[in-house]
Amino acid sequence: MQLKQSNILVAGATGTIGKSIAKQLIASGAQVFITGRNQEKLAQIATELGLPAGQFFAADLTQAQEVEALRASFFARFSQIDVLVNASGIGIIKSMETLTEEEFLQTIHANLLAPFLMVKAFLPAMKEVKKGLFIHIPGVLGKVPMAGAAAYSASKYGLTGMLQSIREEVKRTEIRFTNLYLGGVDSAFWDTIDLRVQRDKMIVAEEAARAVWFLCQQPTSGVVSEMVLQPFNHQAI
Ligand SMILES: NC(=O)c1ccc[n+]([C@@H]2O[C@H](COP(=O)([O-])OP(=O)(O)OC[C@H]3O[C@@H](n4cnc5c(N)ncnc54)[C@H](OP(=O)(O)O)[C@@H]3O)[C@@H](O)[C@H]2O)c1
Repeated sequence: MQLKQSNILVAGATGTIGKSIAKQLIASGAQVFITGRNQEKLAQIATELGLPAGQFFAADLTQAQEVEALRASFFARFSQIDVLVNASGIGIIKSMETLTEEEFLQTIHANLLAPFLMVKAFLPAMKEVKKGLFIHIPGVLGKVPMAGAAAYSASKYGLTGMLQSIREEVKRTEIRFTNLYLGGVDSAFWDTIDLRVQRDKMIVAEEAARAVWFLCQQPTSGVVSEMVLQPFNHQAI
């Protein structure tokens, strides 16, 4: 697939990985539209990336109306979507003694409901042309559980199951779903997590972005259904 002719939506572009993905894809000549929740941060990143007004839109992806407004804004700029990279999400890592019901639901909303609303909003346009690519980042905690990740793993295992089911629905088209299972990436994600982690041993965001860049260019005759990228010292799966 030629990146130069691609219209790509990057969600979570105000985050460490999403911003890096947007930067990498723009550098390769793709037409990139970005979204994040924090309007101010998003506008600042759009300026940094050299994106014109009309190529970014802030939305809380857990809210159906905001996702619909994002969809309208995207299609006001581009007539077609080739790739949707969803790099949005939150991480709450807590033991069952301290994890609250509210935090559990907040995680499910951000990591599972939001991708559901995004696929629901953008799949019809891909179905019209019978092609397109969705890239999601369940992370390895969507494959292998870890203590303290009841909410996070529930959301990411749910995401994997949901996407596998949707993939079955569209299997007679060239609409592809790729799941990127990343191990720890040194990002803002870890700023609020109360765990002793070695951030200097984690994957750097640019490397995660390069994986997405690679996935965006695979020929449509096949599909990379999943990719696992782990820090060197954490090759558990
Ligand atoms: N970092 C890791 O070690 C790691 C490993 C595996 C998988 N992942 C996954 O990779 C993705 C990106 O993570 P990251 O490390 O880049 O985290 P990050 O720096 O914290 O970025 C998270 C992004 O998600 C956005 N977001 C969160 N809730 C949202 C909502 N309700 N509506 C719209 N946007 C929302 C944030 O927007 P605002 O900042 O504007 O609120 C931000 O752009 C996540 O899905 C994460 O689960 C991360």
